[in-house]
Amino acid sequence: PTIYRKDYTPPAYWVRTVEMGFDLEPSATRVATRMTLERNRAGRDRTLTLYGEELELVQIRLNGKALGKNAYALKDGVLRIADAPERVTLEIETLLRPDRNTSLMGLYVSNGNFFTQCEAEGFRKITYFPDRPDVMATYKVMLRADKKKYPVLLSNGNLIEQGDLGDGRHYALWEDPFKKPSYLFALVAGQLVCQEEKIKLKSGREALLQVWVEEGNLDKTQHAMDSLINSIRWDEERFGLELDLDRFMIVAVGDFNMGAMENKGLNIFNTKFVLANPRIATDVDYGNIEAVVGHEYFHNWTGNRVTCRDWFQLSLKEGLTVFRDQEFSADMIGTDSGRAVKRIDDVRVLRQAQFPEDAGPMAHPVRPDSFVEISNFYTVTIYEKGAEVVRMYQTLLGRDGFRKGMDLYFERHDGQAVECDDFRAAMADANGRDLTQFERWYSQAGTPRVVASVAHDAAARTYAITLQQSCPSTPGQKTKQPFHIPVAVGLLGQDGKDLPLKLRGSDLQGTTVVLELTEAQQTFVFDGVADLPVPSLLRNFSAPVVLEYDYRDDELAFLMAHDSDPFNRWEAGQRLALRRLLALTAAVRAGGGMAVDPALGESLRLTLTDDALDPAFREIALTLPSETVIAEQMDVIDPQAIHQARRFLRHALAQALRADLVDAYRNNQTPGAYSPDAVSAGKRALKNLALSYIGELDDAAAHALAQTQCDGADNMTDRFAALAALANGSAPGRAAALARFYQDFEDEPLVIDKWFSLQASARTTDVAAVRKLMQHPAFSLKNPNRARSLIFSFCNGNPSQFHAADGSGYDFWAEQVIALDALNPQVAARLARSLDRWRKYAPALRDRMRSALERVAAAPALSKDTKEVVGKSLAAE
Ligand code: ARG
Ligand code: ZN
Repeated sequence: PTIYRKDYTPPAYWVRTVEMGFDLEPSATRVATRMTLERNRAGRDRTLTLYGEELELVQIRLNGKALGKNAYALKDGVLRIADAPERVTLEIETLLRPDRNTSLMGLYVSNGNFFTQCEAEGFRKITYFPDRPDVMATYKVMLRADKKKYPVLLSNGNLIEQGDLGDGRHYALWEDPFKKPSYLFALVAGQLVCQEEKIKLKSGREALLQVWVEEGNLDKTQHAMDSLINSIRWDEERFGLELDLDRFMIVAVGDFNMGAMENKGLNIFNTKFVLANPRIATDVDYGNIEAVVGHEYFHNWTGNRVTCRDWFQLSLKEGLTVFRDQEFSADMIGTDSGRAVKRIDDVRVLRQAQFPEDAGPMAHPVRPDSFVEISNFYTVTIYEKGAEVVRMYQTLLGRDGFRKGMDLYFERHDGQAVECDDFRAAMADANGRDLTQFERWYSQAGTPRVVASVAHDAAARTYAITLQQSCPSTPGQKTKQPFHIPVAVGLLGQDGKDLPLKLRGSDLQGTTVVLELTEAQQTFVFDGVADLPVPSLLRNFSAPVVLEYDYRDDELAFLMAHDSDPFNRWEAGQRLALRRLLALTAAVRAGGGMAVDPALGESLRLTLTDDALDPAFREIALTLPSETVIAEQMDVIDPQAIHQARRFLRHALAQALRADLVDAYRNNQTPGAYSPDAVSAGKRALKNLALSYIGELDDAAAHALAQTQCDGADNMTDRFAALAALANGSAPGRAAALARFYQDFEDEPLVIDKWFSLQASARTTDVAAVRKLMQHPAFSLKNPNRARSLIFSFCNGNPSQFHAADGSGYDFWAEQVIALDALNPQVAARLARSLDRWRKYAPALRDRMRSALERVAAAPALSKDTKEVVGKSLAAE
């Protein structure tokens, strides 16, 4: 059944207090819950509605009296008590089987320990409850368990009592002073150890910080702890927001559906986003850990203190919190060019994953109007496009204006469950601005297109930029209204320097101005422009749109060499490369020969050898658009042709730039002890990019370079990059290097994930090879990280093999979606998205994809998660 945003009604009852007692046992956990409720005076409804799933209801008492089976109605996971009194005390006892919970929602067991995941609707797998985010209560939680097996007992808030119970059992009593929705509830129990640190907060209060992991992992917690402390400091500085608890805990778990979870005071993390030391984690891992630790910490204010009224408002907390973690990561790098590299990385994710989503069958607005299963809406649109929407406020209002809006938001809504509109109103009101039209960013799906054209009048010394916007149809939204789009622009004079801008009818000054496009078409006139400039449009990617402008090749080369906006400097190179890649792909399809003109190579050589540029920037500038990004530009996707074209271009560039690549390799070594700082990481990135290009040549010298690095590396970044170079070519040491890597890291699950993932995405790995890897003793479908490392890496990260002409990739996909669905619907539904773009392929592939989708759709007992995804894929356009 589809749930609609327009059907929102406030709850009939508020929950004021919740007390819970858990008797933890893997095969039979008893949960006793006592809650006090009060009828919502604002409503007319007297029906008390509770949700429960996959649990056994032992008993239920209302105001002290046991309720018989006819005192309530229980159907499809909804328990209704009609005509309940105004004040209610409910006592509910439920019985759970955490050891059989493979969905990893609610209470489950991972490697012998207990964990919970309650967002979005997991709490209802623990007890019957008004499990919706606008129902907020205070919680007191008693945990009881065997002391030897579960020496550590954690829940939200403060530990107020602990002790022995005799008979080998013990207890811990926790109290969370802040009222919260049930999705922020958490408990952890088991054999864990922690690194801890006390810090002084800005106000002078002291807080205890802990990072909990399994024994043997204490040598991998320092970076997470450092990241947490940096996050706390950053939120104090940038937004004036302080940690509101005396104790803040992070716990790592190896079985987890997503990245991490912001449970109040007890964040639970996928091990992937906690554990790091130089031996097992790459520079990218270090960066991701910092970002996710920040993200979950920042939720304490944006998500927990102010939460969502309903799940349609998910981006209220997620878009805002992603924006905050992006800004945090950028500030941690500190330099302008470092910030630009971070910005480019974020935009790459948006284009690689969100643009295709916005153009496919699952397209939805940042604030969706309907869904079947909310878990399917933890998407790149809600998160990453949502963050872009928040970023546009800052672009329009300035940093100070944005901060004013944030302050007003907390002043108005602290302790409340609110809507995206409330955030927009705070931004508007704090700045005296009308942001009515800006609402369309929340209500309209699809990636807007902005087409720019220019007219220069040398005699009048004017330069006019005309911007035209449109937005393609998306499911359920045929036509779109114009968006309010901030378009940051600069003009480069013939010397490559920015012109001072005089925008007609405006007092905006400087070398970059933000044009506000609000109509379908608008013209902006700049005065005092004597000579024809080159426009630098959508600087720093000021809006999540596709910007089209008919640049000549030489103009792009000019921007690559001179634009003061590092984002657009990168962008110019990408435009040029994309142009070549599309032409090469067309040539492959036409059966003609491929050839590259030397101009692209020369422009890239200038970038590669420009020592004034940060190595990190040079690395991203030399990275060609991905196969997925190329595919999105084509009317009919031909994965094999794209793959051949991109390989050809990489090979040609490697030949043309070989000497410079070898220099870059030599000049960007990082001797001494490993450090994940941005400068060292940037050097390693450029060095390893050089290694990867040289690897394209697949000759003895290339093999030797990779082999030597693989054997000598003292950190995972270099070891893994070298292994990848070997794995993607025909080096004689390939098999031995893979085998040795496995041996060396057999006891490090996160590294074994990398080992699977590398092979799954290697260009020579076909479906048969993936099936063989699935037989490896270390493979398990039950562990999401492992399933993702092999199956997702193949289906999403190896397009030319996955889209094999015989359809064998799709058969494999269908089998795995069905097998996963029986274990873990959330993970299965993610994999189900791999065929989102099936309609864009040539008929032979398209028909095979459709059959695979139909096969999944027809599978018996399919979860609503997977059913929604394949159903929408198959639905008429
Ligand atoms: N709120 C979490 C975060 O963004 C993710 C929630 C996970 N949701 C889920 N259905 N597993 O950090
Ligand atoms: Zn989040």
